[in-house]
Amino acid sequence: MPDGGRRIRQDDRVTDRDAVPLDPAEPVPDPAAMRKHYRAEGLAETDLAATPVEQFARWFRQAAAEAHLFEPNAMIVSTADAEGRPSSRTVLLKQFDEQGFVFYTNYDSRKARDLAENPYVCLLFPWHPMARQVIVTGVARRTGRDETAAYFRTRPHGSQLGAWASAQSSLIATRADLDASYAELAARYPEGEQVPVPPNWGGFRVAPQAVEFWQGRENRLHDRLRYVAEQDGSWRVERLSP
Ligand SMILES: Cc1cc2nc3c(=O)[nH]c(=O)nc-3n(C[C@H](O)[C@H](O)[C@H](O)COP(=O)(O)O)c2cc1C
Repeated sequence: MPDGGRRIRQDDRVTDRDAVPLDPAEPVPDPAAMRKHYRAEGLAETDLAATPVEQFARWFRQAAAEAHLFEPNAMIVSTADAEGRPSSRTVLLKQFDEQGFVFYTNYDSRKARDLAENPYVCLLFPWHPMARQVIVTGVARRTGRDETAAYFRTRPHGSQLGAWASAQSSLIATRADLDASYAELAARYPEGEQVPVPPNWGGFRVAPQAVEFWQGRENRLHDRLRYVAEQDGSWRVERLSP
């Protein structure tokens, strides 16, 4: 991990056991009638940190402390293939520093195939309980094998086996096939035994080219401040109309 990098750990288990059973006769809520008023403090140019990564660290600290914000490191990763066809999915941010934003995935997955053809990527952090979003656009490159291996070793044993068991994004016939594949691996590598890093699994580091900080304000007059990378490595800040 590069110096000063912030590594994100999150091992709390989540299940659907708290899902509220609903009466099937209950009407579906009308999304057009859903309207929240944002009363947050504004975001001014003078408030901003020198770099977008420092600014991101400030907001990330606040997001992590916000009780109503579940998984602040969950981000929507959008890619496009060589023909420009987009696709999006949620992925967990695992580290960030001045070099970029890192996530881990399967290198044969749809997102990884897109990135092999077209490395331009967009990351979106939907921090709704704070009326905030951060949008990073940049270029993705694979992390080195040593860095990937170091991160893989920190994952729980079950997640390490899961990375082997799943050929992410490929079609499978049944759930039972997946469970059988996991059970076979669990027998081969019992708890306590080192699981090798799958060759087709690893990280992507997104080097930011632009980072927008969006703060919801009253009457839809939101603040949008965007850092844009300059040729000399410095950052220009521009304000966008909401
Ligand atoms: C909260 C959440 C976190 C996720 N984190 C990851 C992750 O860190 N890495 C990953 O490969 N997939 C993660 N996924 C699954 C992806 O959304 C997606 O299903 C998977 O990566 C396959 O995407 P693709 O077929 O578009 O490549 C996560 C899903 C959710 C809902």
